[in-house]
Amino acid sequence: MTVPEGNIGRVLVGSAELATRVRELGAQITEDYAGRSPLLVGVLKGAFVFMSDLAREIRLPVEMDFMAVSSYGVSTKSSGVVRIVKDLDVDIAGRDVLLVEDIVDSGSTLRYLLRLLAERKPASLEVCALLVRAGARTDDIAYVGFSIPDDFVVGYGLDVAEHYRELSSISVFEPANSASLPP
Ligand code: IMP
Ligand code: MG
Repeated sequence: MTVPEGNIGRVLVGSAELATRVRELGAQITEDYAGRSPLLVGVLKGAFVFMSDLAREIRLPVEMDFMAVSSYGVSTKSSGVVRIVKDLDVDIAGRDVLLVEDIVDSGSTLRYLLRLLAERKPASLEVCALLVRAGARTDDIAYVGFSIPDDFVVGYGLDVAEHYRELSSISVFEPANSASLPP
């Protein structure tokens, strides 16, 4: 895949700030889930970097599993139609499930996943989202890393056309042509 045309713009959340916030979230989760063993469910691919750091800041025996979803759409705005590309490997009935997301934008991916996972009768079901777009509904989200403005961002797991996930900070992506952001 070719590198998307555009530039990495200003850093929105630097790596030190990410580490501090992830440590705080891990401490909060450790306290809230004391005596339990939560199952972290990461939403691929965007959440994998965050979940890897978060898991190591939770001082409890955690288990991890992943789901992959794709949302059909022709722009950066989600169409609201979500499809499972990879389902969980484990049965979540009776488990304390913590869904780990990179970013909640329109919230349609999250709503779909919560409905699907709730049907499987977990003991509890909560959400930890690294980023939440300002204006998004957050009442379903127990743990929020940062609320961010309406810029398209990359890094720390987030991509534009599969690029820049490896960057250790979260930066604004400025497309050369603002209509050229991929789905
Ligand atoms: P939602 O269903 O509209 O909440 O979309 C959430 C998904 O869209 C995230 O899991 C990301 O994969 C993707 N997404 C939304 N905003 C951004 C962004 O600024 N950068 C990279 N991916 C994004
Ligand atoms: Mg995603």
